[in-house]
Amino acid sequence: MHHIDTTVGIEAIAVHIPRYYLDLRTLAKANAVDPAKYLKGLGGRRFAVAAPSEDPVTLAFDAAQSLMERYSLDPSDIGLLVVGTESGVDGAKPIASYLHGLLGLPADCRTFDTKHACYSGTAAIRMASDWCLARSGRNKRKALVVATDIARYSVGAAGEPTQGASAVAMIVSDEPRCLAFEPFQDAVYSEEVMDFWRPHYRSTAMVDGKTSINAYLKGLRHTWEYYKSGSGLDWDDFEYMLFHVPFPKMAYKGFKSLYEMTKLDQDKLDEEFDSRTACALWANRELGNCYSASLYLSLAALLERGDQSVTGARVGMYSYGSGSCSEYFSGRIGPDASAWKDRIGIAPGLMRREELSYDRYLSMRAACEDLSLEGSCVEHDTPPVPGQRISFQGIKDHQRVYSRVLALRSVASRSHSARAHMGK
Ligand code: HMG
Repeated sequence: MHHIDTTVGIEAIAVHIPRYYLDLRTLAKANAVDPAKYLKGLGGRRFAVAAPSEDPVTLAFDAAQSLMERYSLDPSDIGLLVVGTESGVDGAKPIASYLHGLLGLPADCRTFDTKHACYSGTAAIRMASDWCLARSGRNKRKALVVATDIARYSVGAAGEPTQGASAVAMIVSDEPRCLAFEPFQDAVYSEEVMDFWRPHYRSTAMVDGKTSINAYLKGLRHTWEYYKSGSGLDWDDFEYMLFHVPFPKMAYKGFKSLYEMTKLDQDKLDEEFDSRTACALWANRELGNCYSASLYLSLAALLERGDQSVTGARVGMYSYGSGSCSEYFSGRIGPDASAWKDRIGIAPGLMRREELSYDRYLSMRAACEDLSLEGSCVEHDTPPVPGQRISFQGIKDHQRVYSRVLALRSVASRSHSARAHMGK
């Protein structure tokens, strides 16, 4: 067993909730599908829909700016910025570069994106943790990690009800007040699989659904075995078990697979699932798949609803990225809920949302896809989404244009008036 003295992990966490959503019953009606397939078969309720003025950069900025404000962080505190994303906006320039400028981070801050489908968020977290460990005692600056994604499949495709969007921003440091990672040896499994991919010329993902489910479960079985042998821990050592959530029923499939491997009492499967995993899925059911951010959305949801009742608990975390790379790791929730209480922002974000009609969903996504396909010289005049801090205005002279929106909203007041302030 490999032990390290310094503990690193998540010091702070905040979530950005996009403004618009589609109800899965609306989609089921339009697709002439029994709603029970989406609600019970896949386990979802609604999914977030990005507006044309939103992209993975604006979602990331909104999450990161909220984090900086709610935790009173200063840009000079940040020495590393890593963005995990599947939905990069440029073949070369990372989202981290845009974010670095928008947040006003110092010039001596390292910036880069990680890409490995949904594993990107975990790749970013692991990089940041190693960075903190390597600098332990020398550099008191912190790492900012943002997982940001918009999941889009073709209209009418099997994956359409599993779409979604969100961004989760986290501070990784050696003061892990939210979640301290446990220093066990890496439990990783990689295998090249063609289960989910998005060619450069497409704005929607392609997927072989059944292959992807099998690859997810295969990675889980391998990493769980590696994790157990490396840590000496087993089922009873965990209070909570979180999973990457492409759709909520997938977390159930993952849980069931581990439960069966552990040969536990089948009659208690659902009860165990409810207390260890389902309690953290309420936000995933509302937002849909947000790829790199999905696992961290579950963690944030567990903390936000759990408050004092979750302090000190051990959380098992399974991260899967198509392609594929999987990792099982664990952490202990911090001893004091004031480290995250009223700072994460999921419930207030959900309260501000607006439901879309099916037609509005179609036109919104068509506008987004036009922009991402045409590439150059496209500008749109879509007003910023109420409450949005930065607005994506389109692409001019082959460059993405963002304009700042001065949000009048104070975090505590929950009012969401905003006004256009300046073009960049
Ligand atoms: P499908 O093939 O249309 O659905 O798409 P299905 O026929 O398999 O039905 C789904 C479930 O609904 C089944 O339950 C049905 O029985 C049930 P299960 O057998 O699985 O327990 N069902 C009903 N239940 C109640 N009433 C009804 C009814 N009808 C059916 N009337 C699929 C499903 C997941 C394949 C599709 O949504 C898809 O392609 N999704 C995208 C891919 C995906 O999410 N894969 C998950 C693993 S890979 C991953 O997690 C990585 C990923 O996040 C990307 C990344 O890494 O970045 C995707």
